[in-house]
Amino acid sequence: MLEVENLMVFFENALALGGLNLTVKQGEIVGVVGSNSAGKTTLLNTLSGLINDMRTQAGRRGKERISVYGQIRYKGEDIIDWPTHQRVKQGIVLSRERHPIFPESSVLENLKIAGYRRSKREIRDQLTETFRIFPTLHPLGKRKAGFLSGGEQQMLALAMALMARPSLLLLDEPLLGLSPLMQTAVMAAVFI
Ligand SMILES: Nc1ncnc2c1ncn2[C@@H]1O[C@H](COP(=O)(O)OP(=O)(O)OP(=O)(O)O)[C@@H](O)[C@H]1O
Ligand SMILES: [Mg+2]
Repeated sequence: MLEVENLMVFFENALALGGLNLTVKQGEIVGVVGSNSAGKTTLLNTLSGLINDMRTQAGRRGKERISVYGQIRYKGEDIIDWPTHQRVKQGIVLSRERHPIFPESSVLENLKIAGYRRSKREIRDQLTETFRIFPTLHPLGKRKAGFLSGGEQQMLALAMALMARPSLLLLDEPLLGLSPLMQTAVMAAVFI
């Protein structure tokens, strides 16, 4: 499903990712482990396409140049030049580290916003599925998302990513700052 070959990312002259090779097959769960600044976030930003947006922004502000080399093939197609929205459309969805939610909107509104590409009926079905996977979120539907605990917000972020019906779900530090109980719940959702 995903084949990454000799992927290199530079921030100006600094090498953030040096010749990475990775294959992910359908149905596989692959963990990427590395020390701080090893390049995990850079990898996920590059796979999701966010790096292209970062590159455009950096270019506009006259900041450091971001260069990406190598190949990323998704379902057989070379996607390295695809913008983020096109990748989302094709099922590549990233839940970022401390993923931003809409704090002033309710949990339910956040979930619906995340499903903006889908029909009302699909959203309704997916909401049922989401609350089955994350029963903790169900009674919180009307609560402002900004008032949720860190762990609950993390769950909401993951649930929002699932609303987009990803075929390739990318998670950056999904367990960061969570209690062991919340970690177990999030991992259970990933392995479903
Ligand atoms: N926007 C940026 N501009 C310049 N350098 C960057 C930028 N983003 C990341 N880097 C550098 O790229 C390298 C990889 O960083 P990255 O955030 O991908 O690491 P990480 O493995 O996710 O680390 P952590 O475990 O701390 O999250 C680091 O040396 C970092 O300083
Ligand atoms: Mg990181």
